[in-house]
Amino acid sequence: MNYDAITLHGQNSTLILKTGPAPEIVYWGERVNAQLHVNDISPITRAVPHGRLDLDVPLTLSPEHGRGMFSSPGLEGHRNGYDWSPVFAFHSLEQNGNSLKIITEDTIAGLKLVIDLILDPATDVLQIRHTLTNMKPDPYQVDRFAVTLPLPERADELLAFHGRWVREFQPHQINLKHGSYQQENRRGRTSHEHFPAFIQGSTGFNEQQGELWGFHFGWSGNHRLRSDVKTDGRRFMQAEALYFAGEIQLAENESVSTPLIYATYSQHGLNAMSHAFHQFVRQQILHFPVNKPRPVHLNTWEGIYFQHDPAYIMQMATQAARLGVERFIIDDGWFKGRDHDRAALGDWYLDEKKYPDGLEPVVNHVRALGMEFGIWVEPEMINPDSDLFRAHPDWLLAVPGYHQPTGRNQYALDLQNPAVFAYLLERLDDLLSRYDISYLKWDMNREIVQPGHDSKAAITGQTQAVYRLFDEIRTRHPLVEIESCASGGGRIDFEVLKRTHRFWTSDNNDALERQQIQRGMSYFFPPEVMGSHIGSAHCHSTARSHSIAFRGLTALFGHMGVELDPVKENAEEQAGFAHFIALHKQLRPLLHSGKVVRIDHHDPAMMINGVIAADQTEAVFLISQLTMPTYSLSGSLRLPGLQADKNYCLTVLEKPARFDGGVMKTQPQWLTQDETILSGEWLAKIGIALPVMDPESAVLLQFKLV
Ligand code: DGJ
Repeated sequence: MNYDAITLHGQNSTLILKTGPAPEIVYWGERVNAQLHVNDISPITRAVPHGRLDLDVPLTLSPEHGRGMFSSPGLEGHRNGYDWSPVFAFHSLEQNGNSLKIITEDTIAGLKLVIDLILDPATDVLQIRHTLTNMKPDPYQVDRFAVTLPLPERADELLAFHGRWVREFQPHQINLKHGSYQQENRRGRTSHEHFPAFIQGSTGFNEQQGELWGFHFGWSGNHRLRSDVKTDGRRFMQAEALYFAGEIQLAENESVSTPLIYATYSQHGLNAMSHAFHQFVRQQILHFPVNKPRPVHLNTWEGIYFQHDPAYIMQMATQAARLGVERFIIDDGWFKGRDHDRAALGDWYLDEKKYPDGLEPVVNHVRALGMEFGIWVEPEMINPDSDLFRAHPDWLLAVPGYHQPTGRNQYALDLQNPAVFAYLLERLDDLLSRYDISYLKWDMNREIVQPGHDSKAAITGQTQAVYRLFDEIRTRHPLVEIESCASGGGRIDFEVLKRTHRFWTSDNNDALERQQIQRGMSYFFPPEVMGSHIGSAHCHSTARSHSIAFRGLTALFGHMGVELDPVKENAEEQAGFAHFIALHKQLRPLLHSGKVVRIDHHDPAMMINGVIAADQTEAVFLISQLTMPTYSLSGSLRLPGLQADKNYCLTVLEKPARFDGGVMKTQPQWLTQDETILSGEWLAKIGIALPVMDPESAVLLQFKLV
């Protein structure tokens, strides 16, 4: 039988898929001529070597052992020990532009596997998800269910991210010639440790160069990602929600779907990959209730922690408004009995001891100052020391009979219990209906151990129930924006971003640490969703101190805020906050719409990143000296991405005070001039000489089309 070859084109990539005998991507890479006759894919029909099976075994979107594929299968399951080795045959295809629905089935095993795939023609982001349906009366037990995507043999370098609390998004690179790379997340949330993504490309890919494929798994629960080199040299990646034993059982006609994989091909390094993902997020993931500039925040957490005194909070708000803050958020500590982190989670009623006149005076004060009002919640959690726990000890996400460890003195609630879901919905709905709240900081501060519902494993259902709670709140309060926080960056992914509007990137406000954390996050997420706050000079998570200039410039490139008590800060610091908030407001139309550019610099002690306007009329670049320069000179900076044949005016927006008469005998000439005119071509090819800088200092440059 002859099977169709379907060709899909993006702006920069082409994907060719052969529908049968089982769906297989036979090409995915650089865009080929749209007129190319690709129905005939005979030139890439593989040889069959000696010493193996007698026929060619395709590397399909769901590899099957029964077809002769010996690597990790796409589906593992059984029906009471039977139907354990399905082989799916192509049944039919529906195509609508660049979107495909491919239906395959195994009539012996009584299973249907549907593949939904779309290559977004505007951004080149590929989305793919599988759905399995049980067609027989007896239940089918699904142990593993993954999406598989092929990679070319030359993609032998892999970039993934490790991390932990206060240290998210740390890149690590692996050269993969044989065997596998695998990451497993069993922590019950997206996790700080295993951000669900990796990038694979040919040796030496970097920010500005090289061919690569980027993958992100849009899922906020447990996952398994792997990348394999088969012994025949073929490569593939695989992504799946990681199921605990017995978690997924399908009754007749019941289905399970994998989460979506988002993937893109880049011919020009990591920057081009990020442009695709950022554009995709802006166009298809993010749904701001109102299209407005991202308001500058003040979040009270590091300013007052649990010490809530309404009169004092109003003073903080007054001062925040003077600094230019546009959204004032009261963090943890506002609800009944929440004097520390050992009690009260679950009791979502205002603490009337702290707020004897209610919350209204604070909300009204904040609103009268022209700011939005936001509030912190952690709906999924419960402290054993809470009225809720005393009334409903059986509402825990747990396996009865076992004693599970607490995390931050708390347990998780079982959101698949309808009574729990209804209680949380009612409490959140009441909070948002009662007060003029336009922002929720939605936190989630513990990892999940033994997630049991009705005694059975249930982390997948819990993750879906959390999504339902977000969705229900958004339906009832469509104008409220939500921040996804999980002890900082423990729940950052595309699926939760469909329901939220900002991430709390990290509990670490140390500007030096933030430089790397924010760079790591920038591979997949645009600046407008990356919460970046100026903390106080003495950083709470590292006990290091930084100048206001370094803190302000580091926070500038995200969705900016301040995280401190503005009443207690001295005049110099206050002036600094006001200055950097004003600068952020001036630059944010560019920062929140342009192309993020990360520069490959020869000295890792220096980090350079910027944003170029979509129409290339302006750009800003931040040159940050992280640690002592490795060499006595810092070399030059070449900036790609501006129009080669146009001239740009370079101005220095910010530079360290010690430049004048300090660290250098003589500064590069352009740094001493009010402005310098340079062509886009000069900037891209020849560049400018970099200054020698002190560690933990930064320079901000602006380029404007002349
Ligand atoms: C963890 C968050 O990441 C912090 O920003 C803060 O909201 C605390 N939780 C409050 O308990």
